[in-house]
Amino acid sequence: MTTINHAYDKLVSGYLFPEINRRVKEFQKNNPSAEILKLGIGNTTQPLAEFVVSAMKNGVNKLSDEKTYTGYGDEQGDTRLRQAIVEYYKNLGVEIQDDEVFVSDGAKCDVANIQSIFSQDSKVAVQDPVYPVYVDTNVIAGRTGKALENGGFEGIIYMPCTEENNFFPDLPKEKADLIYLCSPNNPTGATATKDQLKKFVDYARKNKSIIIFDAAYNEFISDSDLPKSIYLIEGAKECAIEINSLSKSAGFTGVRLGWTIVPKSTVCENIEEGKLNSMWNRRQTTMFNGASNIAQEGGIASLSPEGMRQNKEIIDYYMENARILKQCLEEKKLSFVGGDNSPYLWVKTPNNMKSWDFFDKLLKEAHVVCTPGSGFGKSGEGFIRLSAFGNKANLKKAAESIKKNMKI
Ligand SMILES: Cc1ncc(COP(=O)(O)O)c(C=O)c1O
Repeated sequence: MTTINHAYDKLVSGYLFPEINRRVKEFQKNNPSAEILKLGIGNTTQPLAEFVVSAMKNGVNKLSDEKTYTGYGDEQGDTRLRQAIVEYYKNLGVEIQDDEVFVSDGAKCDVANIQSIFSQDSKVAVQDPVYPVYVDTNVIAGRTGKALENGGFEGIIYMPCTEENNFFPDLPKEKADLIYLCSPNNPTGATATKDQLKKFVDYARKNKSIIIFDAAYNEFISDSDLPKSIYLIEGAKECAIEINSLSKSAGFTGVRLGWTIVPKSTVCENIEEGKLNSMWNRRQTTMFNGASNIAQEGGIASLSPEGMRQNKEIIDYYMENARILKQCLEEKKLSFVGGDNSPYLWVKTPNNMKSWDFFDKLLKEAHVVCTPGSGFGKSGEGFIRLSAFGNKANLKKAAESIKKNMKI
């Protein structure tokens, strides 16, 4: 008799974005002439850099000729791309080896799958608010109890990120085994300092915990004091796995390419060096057949000096959007974090409004769509997220409309 994995029943169905769409549709029905301006979604809008497109076209051409055609590649990624990633880290000031790099088809799969190499009874700690994938994948894996009234799950340690702690969590009071950290953060846009990360690295080394560090937005950091990799923190290679992606830094949201670094020196309880690295290798070679060879050609180009230069122009475009949003929020005297070293702005609702009430107000008065912070966790209540990933003309219209029409 087949039975299902009942852990899926615990998941609260994808509520946030369907509910946003429902409210927007309803508003549009009642106000057919209103132009809806979207600042909600974290999807990229700008075309790929020319240098990257050209490399990918070249990749397609290679596939059209028997002499240059390639089929399956190494599950861990094309050697040239792994070397380009090693070089990328070297430029950040981090030494890693080729065989510590695992190329993937994006960060989401890796942050979702990495938990599978840890024991079932691992205690998971996440930032609150949180990118939901860290939580839901551990729910599916059976590491949690039931869903709680407040949107969380029994058995997960939620580490609040609030105004009081500058949106970076305090160390968990109970022992956490798997600690997910994301910096620059989605959704808050807060970027961790070296000192903040050091506390977690020290905690993880002391407790033999593992930090899963999601650096998907690291290329948006312009402040040279802020770390673009957790490996810039002393001791991090003993306790941290880093995951990154070209989705946001090179516009690969649709192309799909990312990577995970599992240093051989990263260890947890009762294992020798290299064990986690070889387990992730086993996992990937068993369950993943390598990223698209065309995407990998684009990845190699993206990480080359010219690719980095052209991608930086796209990042600058989004960061100029963030500046426009910041200026608008300042003018409206709304308090917020983010937008300096990250493409997200986390805005405090005025007068203690609930996130969804402020969402409705923004939609009704300014015709602007945001993402209610409460959708990312309990500590997100009373906040909304704005994204700088839009097209500039639309984003400017949204900012003008907020300035002109929003009553605070
Ligand atoms: C924090 C974070 N990690 C990972 C991802 C997923 O990235 P990818 O497109 O590489 O799967 C996202 C996407 O929005 C994200 O916000």
